[in-house]
Amino acid sequence: MPDDQPLPLLDRLSALLGPRGILTDPADLEPHLADWRLLYRGRTPCVLRPANTAELAEAVKLCAAAGVPLVPQGGNTSMVGGGVPDEGGRQVVVSLARLNRVRDIDPLDMTMTAEAGVVLKAAQDVAAEAGCLFPLSLGAEGTATIGGVLSTNAGGNTTVRYGNARELMLGLEVVLPDGQIWNGLRRLRKDNTGYALRHLFVGAEGTLGFITAAVLRLYARPKESEVALCAMRDEETALALFRRFRDRDETAVRAFEYMSGTGVGFYARLIEGGSVPLSTPAEHYVLVDLASTRPDAGLRPLLEAVLEEALEAGEVLDAAIGESEAQRAAIWRIREEHPEAQKREGASVKNDVSVPVSRTPELIRRASEACRRLIPGVRPVPFGHMGDGNIHMNLQQPEGMDPAAFLARSHDIMETVNEIVRDLGGSFSAEHGIGRLKTDMMEGWRGGPELAVMQRIKRAIDPQGLMNPGKVLP
Ligand code: FAD
Ligand code: MLT
Ligand code: ZN
Repeated sequence: MPDDQPLPLLDRLSALLGPRGILTDPADLEPHLADWRLLYRGRTPCVLRPANTAELAEAVKLCAAAGVPLVPQGGNTSMVGGGVPDEGGRQVVVSLARLNRVRDIDPLDMTMTAEAGVVLKAAQDVAAEAGCLFPLSLGAEGTATIGGVLSTNAGGNTTVRYGNARELMLGLEVVLPDGQIWNGLRRLRKDNTGYALRHLFVGAEGTLGFITAAVLRLYARPKESEVALCAMRDEETALALFRRFRDRDETAVRAFEYMSGTGVGFYARLIEGGSVPLSTPAEHYVLVDLASTRPDAGLRPLLEAVLEEALEAGEVLDAAIGESEAQRAAIWRIREEHPEAQKREGASVKNDVSVPVSRTPELIRRASEACRRLIPGVRPVPFGHMGDGNIHMNLQQPEGMDPAAFLARSHDIMETVNEIVRDLGGSFSAEHGIGRLKTDMMEGWRGGPELAVMQRIKRAIDPQGLMNPGKVLP
């Protein structure tokens, strides 16, 4: 807060938002200051918690007039430090948590209008109650919010079938950096009216304004589903299995996730009740999830036929099929708990990268070898969304190494992985975003006209540079 007017602005914000709408007690600020990975810890004079869009707009106007920078925050599950303030103590955190209403759901239009602070799991539940599906699904869905998943253009487990958050958004309501409200909550499948402004705010990570509500696209609920965990011979056969399923029925695959033996081992050892329904440990696993909206889709015969073929070819070494809802959930848990298990095992460096789907085996193999050469004893833990080309090429510290010494090598590790990603025609940021962690990579990967246009867009929409400074753009 600028020194010349701390009290007047705080007083005005307090009067506007009321006692529930502004936090200043250090204990209340605490959960808003550090990111999930504990990479960053910032300071803020207060956390604003507006109750609705109009209140947020008025608060933004007051802060804009005082030149105060703002940091939007949803569930604070960012993997790249996107939702926390810097160490300077001037940036004000704005939590969208109280904008948590589902305003409307329409099973004929197949749309839901949800406010930014609605938790992703709650949005899925509301859709289910109306007999529909909101298909976005990720490990942090019990905490991540609609505003957050749109602002990062989150992907998750079902991108292979339903696309990223962007593909699930039809319209937006936004509070712009000057406090104006833009109501673009149109629920249209076709709307060619000039530049598609709504898409600018998706993936902008809060640098262009606040998403306050969104029209989300719903789908029919599957009537049948199957989940299997397969131990695979190697990375290539993991991808070959994906192809076998796709060749049989392109519409059947809802998720296709790769896991390494190291990651599955962490899960079994470090997560409560973490059991793996296969008797012999393997170096490579995939989780395949099939789903169909047709009642007679025959997913079980399809699953069994493909697995049998791949077993005979020596590609699948062993497989377990979930026989009940509980068993299917238990298989999914092995995958979903990977980030938590890695956190418990000590320091890790994450590389959220993507390559063309066909190159995922090469990425996993080459990046693992290169990192082992770089840091002897390092433990590669590649896992993730093989079906859409997004591998979390994560590295765990060597056993017994000082975590700080390992993290000091983060830059070298990321460079090593990224060199291979570049060679394979991939991207250094697939679904987590740039946040604060990767701003220094933007010039090297997106420099030239692409970055210059982004900077011009930023200046046009946020001329004072008050929205989430220090994030995304270098
Ligand atoms: P926050 O972390 O609060 O914010 C994220 C960014 O969006 C920040 O830059 C913030 O300033 C901005 N922002 C938040 N709300 C708004 C708003 N209303 N308007 C404007 N800007 C806003 N991501 C994936 O894509 N796929 C995964 O599979 C996945 N798995 C995860 C698993 C775990 C265990 C965790 C901790 C995270 C995972 N993530 C994943 C990362 C994370 O990006 C997502 O959880 C989610 O997109 C973030 O939502 P959030 O509400 O927590 O946003
Ligand atoms: C996930 O898919 O679980 C996360 O996006 C990956 C991670 O923790 O690196
Ligand atoms: Zn992921």
